[in-house]
Amino acid sequence: MARRFRLRPVPGEADAASESPKLIDRREFMRHSFNTAAGVITMASLGAVGFASLLMGQSDADGGDSSVRYWVPTGAEDIWYGGAHLEQMQYQSFVEEARLSATGMAGASGVWSGLPVNVIYLPHDENSQAAPEENKPQFQFMDGYNESGAYVGSGYEVDEEPEYEALSIHDNMIIIFSRCPHLCCIPGWQLVTNDFTSDQWSPGGGDAGGNKLFCICHSSRYDPTVIEKNRNRNRTNGSEFDYIGVKRTGGPAPVGMPLIPFEVNGGVIEALDDFKDWYTFCE
Ligand code: FES
Repeated sequence: MARRFRLRPVPGEADAASESPKLIDRREFMRHSFNTAAGVITMASLGAVGFASLLMGQSDADGGDSSVRYWVPTGAEDIWYGGAHLEQMQYQSFVEEARLSATGMAGASGVWSGLPVNVIYLPHDENSQAAPEENKPQFQFMDGYNESGAYVGSGYEVDEEPEYEALSIHDNMIIIFSRCPHLCCIPGWQLVTNDFTSDQWSPGGGDAGGNKLFCICHSSRYDPTVIEKNRNRNRTNGSEFDYIGVKRTGGPAPVGMPLIPFEVNGGVIEALDDFKDWYTFCE
């Protein structure tokens, strides 16, 4: 019988305590994670083994695991979280790392339930009233356009539409599902060094300014400070879905990457499984 793994109930669900735990089997996790040739190749090029084979060890008997954990590719141990491979991400660690940054930003690549993620912290609450010319990093809410240039919607919908309430900005942080919408590689946080990943920031969601999520496969870039609404499709069955995500700023990727809702529970960053359909564009 296939091994199954339990997710904690989503907070706020009606009668969550009385419901049976959410069970997702290994096939479903893998379907959302590293099952494409591009993804496998990317992981191999990073000298890493698949996330899922490690994280999936959380069994029912262990009480499940919704925490987000650091992922440190071999060769990237000098990054600020380099000694914390597969440890749970602590919110306070991002706050402290951000203090060392010229921009006040901190980020980390990680894994959640077998899925590659990037977690980004920036001083949004402190900077949100600053004028753009002050160049103080903040989350920016912008219009999103699909790959054909048609308007899809606004990032402001995270505050205006009840269906996206779980994605309202909180704790100065976002979590991004990090499969590249080009060919499904895994963009990371400052795992390579170039102008796109330097510790700089510019307003407006353009391609300049650094602190981009950078995909090493074909150099797509994403601005993790720009929240937009966009559209993608399930690669297997073609069904389209709208999503809230971060903006693609350059490279061959057609659109940006979706957000994952989360909460900070006892100082630990835990993701929620509200929008699984959004993570299917690499199936
Ligand atoms: S897979 Fe990311 S740019 Fe091609």
